[in-house]
Amino acid sequence: MAAIAISLIDVTKTYIDRTVVDRFSFAVEKGECFGLLGPNGAGKSTIARMVLGMTPPDAGKITVLGAPVPAQARLARASIGVVPQFDDLDQEFTVRENLLVFGRYFNMSTHQIEAVIPSLLEFARLESKADARVAGLSGGMKRRLMLARALINDPQLLILDEPTTGLDPHARHLIWERLRSLLARGKTILLTTHFMEEAERLCDRLCVLEEGEKIAEGRPQGLIDEQIGCQVIEINGGNPHELRALIKTCAQRIEVSGETLFCYSSAPEQVRIQLRERTDLRLLQRPPNLEDVFLRLTGREMKD
Ligand SMILES: Nc1ncnc2c1ncn2[C@@H]1O[C@H](COP(=O)(O)OP(=O)(O)O)[C@@H](O)[C@H]1O
Ligand SMILES: [Mg+2]
Repeated sequence: MAAIAISLIDVTKTYIDRTVVDRFSFAVEKGECFGLLGPNGAGKSTIARMVLGMTPPDAGKITVLGAPVPAQARLARASIGVVPQFDDLDQEFTVRENLLVFGRYFNMSTHQIEAVIPSLLEFARLESKADARVAGLSGGMKRRLMLARALINDPQLLILDEPTTGLDPHARHLIWERLRSLLARGKTILLTTHFMEEAERLCDRLCVLEEGEKIAEGRPQGLIDEQIGCQVIEINGGNPHELRALIKTCAQRIEVSGETLFCYSSAPEQVRIQLRERTDLRLLQRPPNLEDVFLRLTGREMKD
């Protein structure tokens, strides 16, 4: 059996009268990238905070790198790197100063920290920014600095809470590439995201969650095959409810979300034939993805 880095068993968190994480269980194996995928408010950050021992659960059992959490969270934290959801860099300090201050939290000497700074800057592609103030960095650079900072204690486990939210596509791709290089080095990653594409590209396995409950778990492609398993045609431009009647005989399933009709079909050419006279429509045929899985399981899109 693979070694387990994080284990949650029936973990529940309630705020006043609202259960925001409900009997949640999962196990992250060492060396894998495990995702928590869900829309805003699903409970992702709450789970990440409980794993870090920053928020106590009301019930259930959490073990991180062999230590019971929150009881021995400090022990586990020494081997964990964290990128919180919101930027908490010291804006007035330079890049180098931020790393120096952070290293001291791990009881590293100035000498020890200075010895690792060049490789961290290289990792984050911030070599030329060492003496720049954080306030002047782009969003992508700040996120890369937070990632470099999380690596200062050479952690075996990384907990990344929405590491690319708010970044442009180029900056996002650069973070993905950096995360893949960490996985290649054998690091374990727990990643939260509301980007389907990010989860699909990076995660070995993931949980899909909604309102504190796990609604699916597995490998991204496994979930897609299991839940969808056919082509998708997105149809825009017509009245989705009228269109439904036209194509229902050649579709396994039809979902309407906003102005788009999602047609799931193993015979997409038949759907096109049915609609060939309708030049007013825009049809996009594509393979299924995790967005379709979420739509199938919840009846709504995850996109904000
Ligand atoms: N300290 C808190 N007190 C009360 N409610 C909270 C607190 N933290 C989070 N919540 C609520 O818990 C739910 C889950 O939040 P969160 O874990 O931040 O979700 P996500 O990270 O998936 O967006 C939300 O409805 C949020 O409003
Ligand atoms: Mg969050």
